[in-house]
Amino acid sequence: MPSQIQDVIFHDRMLSLGLARVTEAAAMASARLVGRGDEKAADQAAVTAMREQLNMLDIRGVVVIGEGERDDAPMLYIGEKVGSGKGPEVDIALDPLEGTTLTAKDMPNALTVIAMAPRGTLLHAPDVYMDKLAIGPGFSKDVVSLEMSPSERVTALAEARGCAPEDITVCVLERPRHEGMIAELRQTGAAIRLITDGDVAGIIHCAESDITGIDMYMGAGGAPEGVLAASALKCMGGQMWGKLLFRNSDERRRAATAGITDLDRVYSRNDMVTQDVIFSATGVTDGSVVSGMKRQPGFLETETLLMRSKTGSVRRMRYRNPTG
Ligand code: FBP
Repeated sequence: MPSQIQDVIFHDRMLSLGLARVTEAAAMASARLVGRGDEKAADQAAVTAMREQLNMLDIRGVVVIGEGERDDAPMLYIGEKVGSGKGPEVDIALDPLEGTTLTAKDMPNALTVIAMAPRGTLLHAPDVYMDKLAIGPGFSKDVVSLEMSPSERVTALAEARGCAPEDITVCVLERPRHEGMIAELRQTGAAIRLITDGDVAGIIHCAESDITGIDMYMGAGGAPEGVLAASALKCMGGQMWGKLLFRNSDERRRAATAGITDLDRVYSRNDMVTQDVIFSATGVTDGSVVSGMKRQPGFLETETLLMRSKTGSVRRMRYRNPTG
């Protein structure tokens, strides 16, 4: 095959190991800031390291989900070009530190996260909230939906699983905006796993319900995190839906800047990630998706979840790096 053509192909198999290095580096850079009460410093360390590693990859990447709009974010801003400038054109969705507060407080499930896909195939979600709903693999299409009420979703999922509503566990971000939803879910008898932050991990939990005990995720969280979670579920299996939520005209302007015209659209997982994607997440603090970093005299150990949707392959890789 002529080299010009090879250049533009998205070799996800070859690129995936490089992507693992990107999240590993971001996690390791934030290691000394875990539990130090400084969210900004932890985030900055992860951003700098992630960018440095990303620029070593042979890709022509554009950040479509990043640290924010160019004026607000000096690095890894939306639209920033990343990579060596050789290789395939790709979209990059990233969150150098998903769970800045979790990191600062040394609480579970802080991750460094990135997804990569061919150019033009990841939803350019603006930095607004998204109403999210997710379940794991093995259910018929649209067994639950965003249009259903929270209690209807529990009933439908319990019926599909052949169990009682009491046997369903729903993961929800603990926020005042979710009080009504939580009260309705309580009426069904379902259990609720409340998390203080980190809904990318919350949604990934649905894909491994035998390990995590979580059957369904619902509620409003960041739209950028929604695209990252959809990328993970596309690799692991599972269904997800998201609808952007706008609180004011500035948020609607952000949607327009991102090229979104239908403000009421419900996006399925495959609408958010339309082709093959690679996903990598490294544990910062301990969690049920991956372990957090272990600091030992002389080295630091990380665990990374690396997945490809093309093959459905899921790797968990431990990396021991001498700290000198
Ligand atoms: P950060 O890492 O940017 O702090 O995000 C953490 C997070 O909990 C996300 O997982 C979630 O989508 C979002 O914040 C929820 O937003 P809010 O804290 O405004 O409810």
